[in-house]
Amino acid sequence: MANIINGKAISAAIRAELKQETEEFVQQHGFRPGLAVIIVGEDPASQVYVRNKHRACEEVGFYSEVWELPATTTQDELNALVDRLNGDPAIHGILCQLPLPSHLDENEIILRIDPKKDVDAFHPFNVGKIMIGDYSFLPCTPAGVMALLERSDIEIAGKECVVVGRSNIVGKPQAMLLLHAHGTVTVCHSRTKNLAEICRRADILIAAIGKADFFKGDMIKEGAVVIDVGMNRRADGSLTGDVDFASVEPKASYVTPVPGGVGPMTITMLMKNTLTAAKQSVM
Ligand code: GUN
Repeated sequence: MANIINGKAISAAIRAELKQETEEFVQQHGFRPGLAVIIVGEDPASQVYVRNKHRACEEVGFYSEVWELPATTTQDELNALVDRLNGDPAIHGILCQLPLPSHLDENEIILRIDPKKDVDAFHPFNVGKIMIGDYSFLPCTPAGVMALLERSDIEIAGKECVVVGRSNIVGKPQAMLLLHAHGTVTVCHSRTKNLAEICRRADILIAAIGKADFFKGDMIKEGAVVIDVGMNRRADGSLTGDVDFASVEPKASYVTPVPGGVGPMTITMLMKNTLTAAKQSVM
């Protein structure tokens, strides 16, 4: 029987701490940390994420702007908005919700956001800082995973950590953060041979491939810590992760559920980055 890591409770505890820190910040500096979120078009999943980000800002006491732009927005118009927010002293963090409609260039926007306001940590400057272990902002999902491990008192140093997935948003930065925490890190992906065998070596397995219920109990070492970053919909519409919870849970020592594991942590880490950005703006 595994310990179920309660991401909702851990996230709520961190938000309460952030709220307290924000109050102290406001007392000291006389202004609130400000986050601007840009959404282009009407993707329903993105709309839900953006609404949740706005609510989280209210919860911790930030100033928040949501820029809802039509799907017909041009690159020049989007660039102009980013430039304006880069120069706005009330805004400390800027997040452009991805994916963008296909006529817009995501890389151009990532590069255009001032690295000091890049609370996603997607700008190559911040990605480079993560690589060398000197970072202001941690990418939200991997940072959420690290916070879950820390707050569950799970030791990383010297452990076999297997990250399955190599995206720029999750897999690659996750591997770096585990490496900085002194884990022995293996990154697997779609071309990996003997995936199950490598997963069975993991003391800590991070599942981030986006395939519903992919990781079964026979791919897990007895007593492993299993962190499920997946968020998939089954054919019946129900939500599930990358991990087949029913077969993995009896073998794992710790496991995160979906929903209620990594998911609630990501926006909380965005709040943390925004507070960091505000603090750095007065340093
Ligand atoms: N779309 C899905 N996840 C994310 C994220 O972490 N940041 C941004 N900007 N867009 C996303």
